[in-house]
Amino acid sequence: MEFWTAFYAISFYVAILILISGLAYKIYQYASTPAPLVIPTMPAPRTNSGVVIRMLSEVILFRSLFRANIWIWLFGMMFHAALLIVLLRHLRYFTEPVWGLIVLVQPFGKYGGFIMILGLLGLLARRMFVERIRYISNPSDYLMLVLLLVIGVSGALMTFVTHTDIVQFKAFMLSVIYFDFFNWQSIPGDKMLLVHFTAVILLMIIFPFSKLLHAPGVFFSPTRNQADNSREKRHVAAWALELEKTRN
Ligand code: HEM
Ligand code: HEM
Repeated sequence: MEFWTAFYAISFYVAILILISGLAYKIYQYASTPAPLVIPTMPAPRTNSGVVIRMLSEVILFRSLFRANIWIWLFGMMFHAALLIVLLRHLRYFTEPVWGLIVLVQPFGKYGGFIMILGLLGLLARRMFVERIRYISNPSDYLMLVLLLVIGVSGALMTFVTHTDIVQFKAFMLSVIYFDFFNWQSIPGDKMLLVHFTAVILLMIIFPFSKLLHAPGVFFSPTRNQADNSREKRHVAAWALELEKTRN
């Protein structure tokens, strides 16, 4: 297993590096792109604290999706909420001692995997069977759902059917995140774990180039993050400001 231990440890480092630097670059790009027009979707909040409430209701409750389509909302909510709980449960592989909150989350995360898979299957069925959605779907739309399904199903199989040596796997993970270079603890060799881990590494690499950027992107959406304050505040485009200066 020595070769595979080194292979997975190095792949994990590369994937984390691509994920973090890719995300940082994209967020920098989003933050520095001019938003010269005031275009919040109406009715919009009039104040900045109203905008904060609007953003929270979008991010936590998927409010506009709820109004648009209840089925996508339901499956989307199942997937995202379960993903959050599952990822919280995963923190026990990376922390020693395991934090109290993470211990509490364990049973929910364990079964949350099923809700996550059901949500993903619902979203996939929508892409495959709703004519209008199939027409606008491209391979990457399917790829994301399939990749997440591979991760979810291999994880659930590991938890409930094939089982893996969690103690050994955690020793491997800790040796990787504490940078025990070329002295890493061996990764257990069972296939389901390797499928799970490989798919997660692929997901991390694809993330900063894919539609999954909607996660940071939603915070930069001008139609959501602007206040409807054009009665109180005069918004002048940069070119018009220049023009005004030369006239005065
Ligand atoms: C701030 C965090 C996030 C928010 C607010 C959010 C919100 C949403 C919303 C509203 C949709 C539905 C879009 C539509 O079809 O109309 C969606 C779709 C999706 N999200 Fe997220 N998301 C977040 C994070 C993530 C993360 C971290 C992942 C994966 C690792 C993810 C994976 C997906 C996938 C795969 C879909 C597409 C489903 C499909 O098109 O069939 N999301 N998200
Ligand atoms: C470096 C990242 C990850 C590692 C090391 C990892 C490792 C594991 C391991 C060892 C298990 C089996 C737990 C057991 O037997 O009790 C598991 C289960 C699972 N994993 Fe992951 N995983 C990672 C990332 C992810 C991601 C990103 C997702 C979701 C997109 C995910 C979804 C699941 C699910 C749904 C299960 C089954 C339910 C559960 O036991 O929580 N994993 N994972």
